[in-house]
Amino acid sequence: MSGGAIQLIKVSQSTMKKLIIANWKCNPATLKEAQKMFLALRGGLKNNSKAEAVVCPPFVYLAEAAKVFKNQSSVKIGAQNCFWEEKGAFTGEISPKMLKSLGVKYVILGHSERVMIMGETNEMTARKVNAVLKLGLTPIVCIGETAEERKQGKTSIILEKELKESLQGVAKNQMTKIVLAYEPLWAIGTGKACSVDEAVKAANVLRRTRKAPILYGGSVHSQNAAGYIAARLDSARQAGLDGLLIGGASLDPKEFLAIIKQIR
Ligand code: PGA
Repeated sequence: MSGGAIQLIKVSQSTMKKLIIANWKCNPATLKEAQKMFLALRGGLKNNSKAEAVVCPPFVYLAEAAKVFKNQSSVKIGAQNCFWEEKGAFTGEISPKMLKSLGVKYVILGHSERVMIMGETNEMTARKVNAVLKLGLTPIVCIGETAEERKQGKTSIILEKELKESLQGVAKNQMTKIVLAYEPLWAIGTGKACSVDEAVKAANVLRRTRKAPILYGGSVHSQNAAGYIAARLDSARQAGLDGLLIGGASLDPKEFLAIIKQIR
């Protein structure tokens, strides 16, 4: 077999991998606890070949995460946010270049908690997405409707609008380097997960215009994860979900590993 053919097989295998993201949000409260969690994950993720696990702790624990997972190719480090400039007089901000220098590969952007609590706009998300892409990191862009918008039957319109605004200025050939996460606001941290059918439907709305891997996030845990993960297998090509973005349940390493184990 030629080198080219080997390369091709490797690529197609890696694109089949499910992306399972642990979004720790503002947890845990101490470095000591974070170290314990990293170590609990390290052992459990050792022989993980079907999933790409991405651990996104708070910024201050990233260097420690990079150290712990240094030799584990199936575990990547992600950040939960970043600024759009490289460096300068921007008190309190963290740049994509700083993240890259720590070994970070993914950056979650436009999360609804940044929008609802910190007042971030889609325009700010777009600036961040462009800055992250420029450095060769992968943005995970969160898109989702509120309970009210859903009730009014506006989900598709909202998703399309948010997507357009959050990806403003991104060149067409960069679109495949973005991961999209469908995160309905009413399902985040509420225990009311979106049904698999509804999540797949939303994913297909997002996929209509952008060829990007699509994740689902919102109250995922080890008892409901399998349904979302299997969705791709049950559906036609280009349908289904490519992975999960997990908040609360990812704070328990055992629970997170139980989700990863379900990927065959
Ligand atoms: P949750 O959070 O799993 O706790 O609902 C998901 C997210 O906010 O990404």
